[in-house]
Amino acid sequence: MLRLMRFVARYFTALVCSWYLFTFGWLIERNRVLMYSILRHFGLWRDTEAVLQLLPVVKPSDVVPMDGPLELYEPVAANGNVTLLELTILVRSVLKVRPANLLEIGTFDGRTTLNLAANAPADARICTLDLPQNVEPGLEVAAHDHLFIDKPAPGARFKASPHASKIEQLLGDSAKFDFSPWADKVNWMFIDGAHSAEYVRNDSRIAREVIAPGGWIFWHDYGVWDGVTEALNGLKDDPWFSGLQHIEGTCLVVLKT
Ligand SMILES: C[S@@+](CC[C@H](N)C(=O)[O-])C[C@H]1O[C@@H](n2cnc3c(N)ncnc32)[C@H](O)[C@@H]1O
Repeated sequence: MLRLMRFVARYFTALVCSWYLFTFGWLIERNRVLMYSILRHFGLWRDTEAVLQLLPVVKPSDVVPMDGPLELYEPVAANGNVTLLELTILVRSVLKVRPANLLEIGTFDGRTTLNLAANAPADARICTLDLPQNVEPGLEVAAHDHLFIDKPAPGARFKASPHASKIEQLLGDSAKFDFSPWADKVNWMFIDGAHSAEYVRNDSRIAREVIAPGGWIFWHDYGVWDGVTEALNGLKDDPWFSGLQHIEGTCLVVLKT
């Protein structure tokens, strides 16, 4: 009986929210994203045509050793975070590479950033860039990107952590940000900012400019966001990116340079 009452309460709350969405709510961009979600759910809308996954697939254990101790914080993922397996692989790669300089594009709530900081060498520096809400992106973003851009401030999950002293929060648009001070200095990089093909190509070009010899680059959302899939499929024909590998059971792509 209690379950039925709960369901009815939720049903009517959702009904009122839907009424709001389709009368006034759609005037706000982040609400329009919900409309696209409904159309997507019923198979009636896509950002682009379906994009096939063309990258070679490798097992997580072919990329990093999957055993041994590691520190994991904030295990519960929010919408927009990486999965626990993906977080484990990212952290294990940091333990393997022992990077002095790490760079992340797309901080969001800072869950990944926090775990990178906790497992990177004591003197490592983790720089993480996020787009402030009031800055107009220089390139086209995917409609769903606004769900993650619209937040009071990035990095909420690491702000109070003792590991925060290793993290530098950068604010700006990856299409306009001056990355020249990082040229050839980054040993480990994670690309998880805007998800349009244009942005993924832009952020991958940046990776090529900043990565130090022997550095590792990860991308998120391959096979999930069409823009990411399309851009990475295209990059594999460039000799510099020809070692791109899709990690099985995840939407991570890795390049060991
Ligand atoms: C999916 S979230 C990142 C999730 C995060 N990496 C994690 O592992 O939890 C995408 C983030 O990229 C940021 N972003 C979107 N466009 C950007 C841009 N042009 N430059 C920098 N950051 C951007 C958004 O504000 C959002 O916080």
